[in-house]
Amino acid sequence: MPSIEEPRPLALMDTWTSVGTREQVAADWPLAAEIGSLAVGVFEVDGELYAVDDICPHAHARLTQGFTEGCEVECPLHGATFDVTTGRRRSGPACDDLKTFPVRVVDGRIEVQIGVSAP
Ligand code: FES
Repeated sequence: MPSIEEPRPLALMDTWTSVGTREQVAADWPLAAEIGSLAVGVFEVDGELYAVDDICPHAHARLTQGFTEGCEVECPLHGATFDVTTGRRRSGPACDDLKTFPVRVVDGRIEVQIGVSAP
């Protein structure tokens, strides 16, 4: 007889959302995606994908429009730099790190996992 799983509280549920295809991301070409009201940037570093907040915590610029080199992205507005593999701020006027999200590729499509908030 199959076991019945306890329902997980809605606030703790996570969901994978398809944001694009693997071909849309390259080392110097990140992908900007929207998941609801959340802006997510998907970056490629050494062949691996990383998903972070796409909004700079300093003054709301899109980081996917910045300059990317290796694991570092430079904000296009005031030059703060972040490590997209960890979300950590490296330099510049921003004072917060970026939130990071799990990312995977399924059948050639990029999926990002975000938490679902309780209504
Ligand atoms: S908006 Fe990114 S450093 Fe100012």
